[in-house]
Amino acid sequence: MKRIYNISFLISAGIMLLSACGDKQSPGLEYMPDMYRTPAVVAYAPSKVFKDSVSALPPVSGTIARGQYVDFNYPNTNEGYEAAGVELKNPFTPTPELIAYGKEEYMTYCAHCHGENGDGNGWLKIKGDKFPVPSYFDETHKDLSEGKMFFSITYGKNLMGSHASQLSPEDRWKIILYIKELQKEHAVGAADTTSN
Ligand code: HEC
Repeated sequence: MKRIYNISFLISAGIMLLSACGDKQSPGLEYMPDMYRTPAVVAYAPSKVFKDSVSALPPVSGTIARGQYVDFNYPNTNEGYEAAGVELKNPFTPTPELIAYGKEEYMTYCAHCHGENGDGNGWLKIKGDKFPVPSYFDETHKDLSEGKMFFSITYGKNLMGSHASQLSPEDRWKIILYIKELQKEHAVGAADTTSN
């Protein structure tokens, strides 16, 4: 029995060796060619693999794209704005490192309108009666909820464009940490002046 194995091994090795010689372009004798040459399937093209005969199934409903872990399903309406204001919470807790990161991004994307310290006096000087850049410390904005901030940064508001394509949700939240820090510092500063 062992001998038969040995002989068949020698024969197959011989075939492989022989078939590897000859044409240099040829891959030689292929066993199970399916393993080498898998059929290329075009995504979402008709296919027999799945029940609905499409080669790739669409993601299940509620699938969140990588990096988009925040479930932001608010329509761009007043109701959406109000609901986001109540429900959306910053997933990050402030640390000096995150605030510093938020500041860096703020300086790049926001400071030219909102001012380096958030008083609304950025170098673009968008003033006027209609849609001036507000100060983060005025009556309307000093207690603005982080959910509303996230909503407005994501969709934009009047003269402010949407920043959803430039900033990931994580970066938007980190900037909000920085704005909240500015507001806190301002409130402390204001309290100091009143008490003097
Ligand atoms: C082109 C100038 C401009 C840029 C750039 C800009 N903003 Fe604004 N922002 C505005 C204006 C104008 C408003 C006032 C909108 C209104 O209420 O009419 C505003 C309002 C806001 C508000 C208040 C939103 C609300 O719900 O009332 C927040 C928070 C804010 N901006 C944050 C940011 C952040 C963070 C960035 C950077 C990622 C940024 N903005 C970039 C012009 C700008």
